[in-house]
Amino acid sequence: MIMRPRRLRKSEKIRNLVRETTLTKNDLIMPIFIDENLNENEKTPISSMPGQFRFGISAAILECIEISNLGVLAVILFGIPKEKDPFALSAFDENGGVQKVIRAVKKKLGDSLLVIADVCMCEYTSHGHCGIVSNNEVLNDETLEVLADIALSYAKAGVDIVAPSDMMDGRVLKIRKTLDENEFENVSIMSYAAKYASAFYGPFREAAESTPQFGDRKTYQMDSGNSREALKEIQMDVLEGADMILVKPALSYLDIIKTAKENTLIPVGGYSVSGEYAMIESAAEKGWIDREKAIFEALLSIKRAGADFIITYWAKEISKKL
Ligand code: PBG
Repeated sequence: MIMRPRRLRKSEKIRNLVRETTLTKNDLIMPIFIDENLNENEKTPISSMPGQFRFGISAAILECIEISNLGVLAVILFGIPKEKDPFALSAFDENGGVQKVIRAVKKKLGDSLLVIADVCMCEYTSHGHCGIVSNNEVLNDETLEVLADIALSYAKAGVDIVAPSDMMDGRVLKIRKTLDENEFENVSIMSYAAKYASAFYGPFREAAESTPQFGDRKTYQMDSGNSREALKEIQMDVLEGADMILVKPALSYLDIIKTAKENTLIPVGGYSVSGEYAMIESAAEKGWIDREKAIFEALLSIKRAGADFIITYWAKEISKKL
């Protein structure tokens, strides 16, 4: 035999030497749920995501500090408001939970922690859709105005990066223009360019109370069968001024991450979503898989597919082991 690939696997040292992909602390972004309905210092477990919590405002600030001290580079914030209405008015309230946490964390931590804010209406609307609804239809262009208002309010609070996750057409351009007109040229856009209509968001919707009250999100989020369309979405977002793009979910869409990486010149992230988290956690709880090994393997696969960074609910825990 001329070739014996097993020679490169014969010891831990040699395996470490030739490993093509590794996971580092610099790869991970931790999602944080800020719940305005909780007391300042309260945190409450999310039942569909064991190990994850919703935080009151002060508790969320402390959590960000703790995460930063662990060496994690970034958090992504999601808000659960007190009041929901058809127009997501509380989403761009300068005293909203997300805005308060951004201001406090940036004041306290400055550049030691990147603060990203998810820009979407669904957690703030009474109907649970990611846009303005009329006659059971989610209106695109009217929604852009609200998304821009939300992004601007986060920018005013001092956010580093806004992450539009709504999947309306033209939102990156609209948000870019609005930020620039208000002298926030340095706020970056991380767009969820290829976001699929996925069953894997179930636990998040429980966590964020954002389940649509009628219909589904298939008229705006992408169809699972499509990959060329993902490339189109990505190219559009690049042309509209996105600084980085996301593919979401991650595990069932590793091919999309790879395509995105091969066909763009901007950084590509993968969002390992709530359902991916719940699958591994629940199988591990039953004793059917080795939890930690499964987590590392899942995250490594997302990187191997081409992701430059990963949004994952395991960021805090795993960073302690990296
Ligand atoms: C908001 C948003 C969702 C997720 C991130 N941003 C929910 C959705 O689109 O229904 C899902 C994240 C997860 O499942 O972990 N639009």
